[in-house]
Amino acid sequence: MSHTDDHSGSRRDFLYYATAGTGIVATGAAVWPLVNQMNASADVRALSSILVDVSDLEVGTQLTVKWRGKPVFIRRRDETDIKLARETPLEDLVDTESRNKNKPDTDASDQNRTLDENGEWLVMIGVCTHLGCVPLGGASGDFGGWFCPCHGSHYDSAGRIRKGPAPRNLDVPVSAWFDDTTIKLG
Ligand code: FES
Repeated sequence: MSHTDDHSGSRRDFLYYATAGTGIVATGAAVWPLVNQMNASADVRALSSILVDVSDLEVGTQLTVKWRGKPVFIRRRDETDIKLARETPLEDLVDTESRNKNKPDTDASDQNRTLDENGEWLVMIGVCTHLGCVPLGGASGDFGGWFCPCHGSHYDSAGRIRKGPAPRNLDVPVSAWFDDTTIKLG
């Protein structure tokens, strides 16, 4: 049964559990008992949350999960990523706002972009802020982060736009640690 089939019945789950490494999304009603999907309106379902198991994500790699119809990048940054991002002066940035839903109205310093204080975990919507392509990861581009080949936008290791036509940093969605190895989106 496909994922779509699985959720096409009248009892639609709207919280999913994604597993690192596979990117497979499976039903997660059992892991989120506080949510009563039977009574949820379509609007609420559209704003669903998901839990992402990141226990298998190794340092220096990225997991991509689909959430609310968009890719979300979860990168476990290595020392080089963190150093590069933290040593970049704000004056060098194109967009000086954090674009972090968890920290509204803050500047784009690396500490305001990451999920944890040490800066190991970075969660972002994987959609280029130019025209919506999905940037390539793996420390790509001229600034060791993501590169959008559509029109040549370069993002740094904190997902901040550094070169090219994209006007804004990659968006950081509402996200938090659910437990030691699980990130909740939404
Ligand atoms: S959509 Fe990314 S550079 Fe144009």
